[in-house]
Amino acid sequence: MEAILLVGGQGTRLRPLTISTPKPLLPTAGVAFLAHQLARAQAAGVDRIVFATSYRAEMFEAAFGTHAHGVDLAYVSEAEPLGTGGAIRNAARALTCDPDEPVLILNGDILSGHDVTAQVALHEKSSAAVTLHLTRVEDPSRFGCVPTDPDGRVAAFLEKTPHPVTDQINAGCYVFRRSAIDTIPEHEVVSVERETFPSLISSGAVVMGYVETAYWLDVGTPQAFVQGSRDLVLGKIASSAMPGEPGERLTLHGAIVSPGAVVRGGTTVGRGAEVEPGATVIGSVLQDGAFVAEGATVRDSVVGRGARVGAGAVLDGVILGDGAMVGPGNELRDGLRLWPGIALPPTAVRFSTDA
Ligand code: GTP
Repeated sequence: MEAILLVGGQGTRLRPLTISTPKPLLPTAGVAFLAHQLARAQAAGVDRIVFATSYRAEMFEAAFGTHAHGVDLAYVSEAEPLGTGGAIRNAARALTCDPDEPVLILNGDILSGHDVTAQVALHEKSSAAVTLHLTRVEDPSRFGCVPTDPDGRVAAFLEKTPHPVTDQINAGCYVFRRSAIDTIPEHEVVSVERETFPSLISSGAVVMGYVETAYWLDVGTPQAFVQGSRDLVLGKIASSAMPGEPGERLTLHGAIVSPGAVVRGGTTVGRGAEVEPGATVIGSVLQDGAFVAEGATVRDSVVGRGARVGAGAVLDGVILGDGAMVGPGNELRDGLRLWPGIALPPTAVRFSTDA
């Protein structure tokens, strides 16, 4: 089976990490996020993937070449981003399959443990134009929702509302009949969620919902990105692409973790990164060359490449851009992001770490 992977977005919600690296290439549990998706796609029977690129397009081929994780790879770039639907249509130029064959479409920022083979089987059995993976969430008011009829056919594609009619939401993994992709207008900006799916449904095409509530996470926000990495390291979702066994932490080549430091909760310690004695790092991502000084506490945070956390500083739910420096004694919390290269001087007042 062939697949299209949508990886052209700017990843604005994950800035400043995405200034230098597109979201799908951010190191996640020791490898580029996409490596986990490639490995899972291969396990589901995908043997060729077309990357639909736009933002920092050249970095994808440089990272993966023409074959990786058992899958052949091709690249189609948009000069201007065409939106999710326009990107699928544009990338379909590079598909080789017949019009009736299924094509898997994956958002490049979803970590999902659902059974893709079962989704494709439902698609084939229903002779559907498109079959969407739908998951269930506790608070569907944060998403558009997707009600289905008793036969599993998608009844509507509804915008976000405070009173959703179902807890089923679009999980960002679709099976398209190849010929259904050709119904998307060419060379135009098109949203698959706002335009393609509603118009297929109103034209009477069979659009099926494959509902499965396996592990599912959209890693598009800083908090979710850190959670995805943590869950992979802890083994809450299995990935054959992870360079190590699941456990409390993943320590990459050349990293130095002092025996006097506490590093756990699914933390990744990148290549050449260092954690000094008395430091505590929990559920975080320390990218390559990051440094956490003695007595510092880092929790649920990303410390970018070569960034430094000074002695006794506290980071909780924070993103430090590449090369940023937090001077000793600073306390940063709750979604704060420091841009690459910014240096915070030491604070005169030392804050308590459990304040
Ligand atoms: P934000 O800017 O933070 O919203 O992130 P994003 O740019 O990744 O957008 P979003 O999360 O809505 O995108 C979902 C998926 O579609 C991601 O994998 C994006 O890379 C991809 N995507 C979004 N827009 C485009 C586009 O215009 N072209 C291509 N090729 N992919 C896109």
